[in-house]
Amino acid sequence: MSETQTPLHAQRVSQAHTQAPAQAPTQSQGREQVDRGDAAGASSSRDWFSHMFDALPHDVDIYEVGPRDGLQNEKTVLPVETKLAMIESLVDAGIRRIEITSFVNPRWIPALADHMEVATRLRRREGVRYSALVPNMRGLDSATRAGMDEIAIFMAASETHNRKNINKSTHKALETYAEVVREAMDRGMAVRGYVSCVYGCPYEDQVPYENVEYVSKALVDLGVYELSLGDTIGVGTPRQVAGILQGLLGAGLSYDQLAVHFHDTRGTALANTTVALQLGIRTIDSSLGGLGGCPYAPGASGNVATEDVVYLLDGMGIRSGVELDRLPAISVEIGAKLGRELPSKYTKAYVGACAKSGVPV
Ligand code: HMG
Ligand code: MG
Repeated sequence: MSETQTPLHAQRVSQAHTQAPAQAPTQSQGREQVDRGDAAGASSSRDWFSHMFDALPHDVDIYEVGPRDGLQNEKTVLPVETKLAMIESLVDAGIRRIEITSFVNPRWIPALADHMEVATRLRRREGVRYSALVPNMRGLDSATRAGMDEIAIFMAASETHNRKNINKSTHKALETYAEVVREAMDRGMAVRGYVSCVYGCPYEDQVPYENVEYVSKALVDLGVYELSLGDTIGVGTPRQVAGILQGLLGAGLSYDQLAVHFHDTRGTALANTTVALQLGIRTIDSSLGGLGGCPYAPGASGNVATEDVVYLLDGMGIRSGVELDRLPAISVEIGAKLGRELPSKYTKAYVGACAKSGVPV
């Protein structure tokens, strides 16, 4: 193809390539280049380079939601034995916080109708915190009978999503949870809280920040020890994440009270996770293989994959205690049982590398 035939965008790309240095400068060359600059821009870029990772935590908690959020929307209902093996394998891989099921109405979430059997048959391990979703007093009583010592309550920052997902207004949900949290704490349980639809709602589209702050503060006032901010339909972008976190921290919530919960519907989950880490957040929700989605959030797809998050953390030198290379085998096995390949990019790459070198996953 002659120069005149080159499509415009290709010309731009090739020009950019010819103007770029043949090799990226080394760290010290880069520093020299910035140091030689005389404009304020040079010194501000030097500040940015030296500070952009300053707030990264050294350690984070992965809060695994695969057995609950991951499986709740699957048409294929996995046998109890498979769910138990999945949870055990995740714990073997180093997961120390895990949501194992939901004590919700099985007519609403048929895939988790076996909640009592899963929770009672599971062998609990020292040092692992097992939790389950609870929507009301009936759910709390079931969780108590099943021997749970931690539960998670959940509601949205959007009125319509609350009506569709838990059949209650925002006001009524808070009233219900006031009783649930009080009673759970009296029974010696820890209570986590979810605020979903923080970045957008499948029914209302935009969700005003004021709603997010209102529901978040109300749940913290009820006594939840940690609040997970859910991007239920995966629409959030990094600037929004920074804005929401800045708002809530400014409104009096502490770093220790906040966790992030991203869905990767539009491919922004890892970018959002990176920004949350840079802002000092230390609890990341994720789901094995990228399983997940809320049946009452049309169009929502999987959570950010645990193995993709652990790869990101390992690469940035942040400890999670999870052994990355034990995860793909679990993902592949659960995918096979569900009859599909799970979306995790790390697992795809790992499986490809194994196939190339002829070793089993
Ligand atoms: P309802 O129909 O309004 O409940 O549902 P009700 O109080 O009127 O009772 C109706 C029937 O349900 C009764 O049975 C109750 O006993 C029974 P009947 O007399 O007709 O035989 N019932 C229950 N059964 C078992 N367990 C219970 C329970 N409660 C009532 N706990 C309810 C209200 C909240 C129960 C229902 O709407 C429900 O189960 N919703 C859950 C939906 C759900 O789990 N959605 C997915 C959650 S994921 C999410 O929200 C987002 C998140 O992942 C974060 C993110 O991704 O962003 C957390
Ligand atoms: Mg979720």
